[in-house]
Amino acid sequence: MLKMKALSLLLMAFVLVISGCSSSSTSGEKRNEEEKDEVVTIVYSKGQDATGGTKKIVEEFNKRNPKIQVKFREMPADTGQQHDAYVTMFNGGSSEIDVMELDTIWPAEFAQAGYLVELDRFLQQDKDIKLEDYNQRAVSAASFNGKQWAMPKYIDTGLLFYRKDIIAENEVPKTWDELIASAKENQGKNGMKYGYLMQAKQYEGLVCNGIEFISSYGGKFLDDNGKVVVNSPETIKGVAKMVEVATMDAVPDNVTTFIEQESHTAFIEGQSPLIRNWPYQYSLANDPEQSKIVDKIGVAPLPAGDAGTAAALGGWMTGINKFSKHKKEAWEFVKFMTGPEGQKIGALYGALAPTIPALYEDKEIIEKNPFFAEEGFQKGLETAVPRPVTANYPEVSEVIQIELSKAIAKEVTPEQAVQNMEKELKAVLGQ
Ligand code: GLC
Repeated sequence: MLKMKALSLLLMAFVLVISGCSSSSTSGEKRNEEEKDEVVTIVYSKGQDATGGTKKIVEEFNKRNPKIQVKFREMPADTGQQHDAYVTMFNGGSSEIDVMELDTIWPAEFAQAGYLVELDRFLQQDKDIKLEDYNQRAVSAASFNGKQWAMPKYIDTGLLFYRKDIIAENEVPKTWDELIASAKENQGKNGMKYGYLMQAKQYEGLVCNGIEFISSYGGKFLDDNGKVVVNSPETIKGVAKMVEVATMDAVPDNVTTFIEQESHTAFIEGQSPLIRNWPYQYSLANDPEQSKIVDKIGVAPLPAGDAGTAAALGGWMTGINKFSKHKKEAWEFVKFMTGPEGQKIGALYGALAPTIPALYEDKEIIEKNPFFAEEGFQKGLETAVPRPVTANYPEVSEVIQIELSKAIAKEVTPEQAVQNMEKELKAVLGQ
């Protein structure tokens, strides 16, 4: 093997010399040095790193692994845009990215399309990491057809964040109607431009916001057997409440252009007493370099409808590109990032909720994110509502996004939106 390498290097140098290339000797030497050092550079991509937590994980890995250097490539904040960028890249067999973060809704599709390295062989050989140590819901979200396609990195669950200096703990809204009242009451007070922030753009996050309203009234898209059961009085009530909230004066007029980024920015600028967002919001709001509301944030479950409170289950996992030229090195990084050390950094610097239950016993993590230890949060992780699991999820999501958007724009009534969803979902799922 070594002999062959040396031979090919010699051959390369020879070709360069006889082709009369003037820089041949310098570039040849450089290549030789690189071979000796054997530093492998891999590219890791993920969506917007709003808290800087991901950069910290990469830095730490690079420090500990001089022979493997990870370059971080930031992708768009919108998960749908990220998804489409990956599909284009991987359909073309691109190896430009080695490791990437996958939204919890992608593994089935990506595994079936052949974009991912199956991780079971690494897991079998590597005694450092055991799937039993992970949250089993998160593990199963990353498996498909009995194989493991990614490692769970963090769990997301929808939460209500409020300004402790404006809303007393016993006045935190517990139902959607209380939320509407509180948002209206507080808008305009203490320089509050808005009363409530959410994500209502036509994109994946609208599906998450929608699931939370719909589930809190007892509605569902599919039943446990995957049958479309969306057309129910419960779903209609949930959609109607969502429309009521998203169109009230206390939310920004342009809330239908808001994804996480716009909503979290308005919140950390101190423009609203209430926001629906994922756990990272806590870290961002407590970051003195970015936020005007440090130490002023409380965390609560999302408001309840007739059937109780419900949160969407989100989260991200890490996988390896099937076309990567550095799979072994890629695995080393995946292992660090999704292992206890990487997840601890994510929790400390990004309020990313670990997928390793033992980390909720870690003093430093809890000190930084006290809400992680609360019973309500722990229960929320177990009961958060997943989105439908199917290899053609993007089509399912598109139907839901379009109909919820039309309902918020009042182009259709909640009843019509739900009827349309029923028809379209049945068509997409072949029912
Ligand atoms: C968060 C969730 C992810 C979801 C996305 C929607 O990133 O973790 O699962 O799809 O938000 O915007």
